[in-house]
Amino acid sequence: MQTLTVADLEGMEKLARIQLATSLPGIKPISLIGTVDRSGQTNLAPFSSIVHLGSSPALLGMVTRPDLVERHTLANLTEIGAWTINHLHPRILGAAHQCSARYPKDVSEFEATGLTPHFEEGFPAPFVAESRLRIGLTLEDLIPIPANGTQLIVGRVVLIQIADGLLLDHGHLDFDAMECLASTALDTYFKIQPLARYSHAKPDQVSSPV
Ligand SMILES: Cc1cc2nc3c(=O)[nH]c(=O)nc-3n(C[C@H](O)[C@H](O)[C@H](O)COP(=O)(O)O)c2cc1C
Repeated sequence: MQTLTVADLEGMEKLARIQLATSLPGIKPISLIGTVDRSGQTNLAPFSSIVHLGSSPALLGMVTRPDLVERHTLANLTEIGAWTINHLHPRILGAAHQCSARYPKDVSEFEATGLTPHFEEGFPAPFVAESRLRIGLTLEDLIPIPANGTQLIVGRVVLIQIADGLLLDHGHLDFDAMECLASTALDTYFKIQPLARYSHAKPDQVSSPV
């Protein structure tokens, strides 16, 4: 094993340190976050820090970088109180990655990349029409992380849209047929392949694939 200490990490060249630090959580989800401001200006940005926070109510969290510079996603979802999570597949990956570019506020990443906004009656934030799994959320909480000025954005799931045939029995989603993608760091994307589904683990019984 190669061992790195805090001193080694701090001594690394800046971009290499960021690459390593952002790789440490391993493979993560990747989605486009859709928002809009009060004037109707839409915005898209890829986020990989999406995490399940609870099932009843269904809550999802994501971490935003410090707002030392303009953060359109954070500003819009705070202003409107709602946003969307749109899962990716290979055909929209290039456009989704391009959405991480720092476009000015008056440029919509929808227009810049050719992705299609889709609005649902009664829900203010834009979905990505090309996405096969889309989630609408309302803002529940913004929790500061004082150690580095990031914030945990807590959202309540209020709408779920799934392409036909991809919601399986007992609430399982067919991520394989969805061609769902995963990511690490800020530049690397993966196809996923199902490996096994296990029965609920119990102390008195060795769980096995079902
Ligand atoms: C693969 C990938 C994952 C990212 N994940 C996050 C994230 O979880 N949180 C975050 O604040 N920024 C993340 N970013 C960076 C934002 O997408 C980027 O800062 C973007 O310009 C933000 O746009 P906005 O100002 O329109 O919100 C990620 C970028 C990439 C390429």
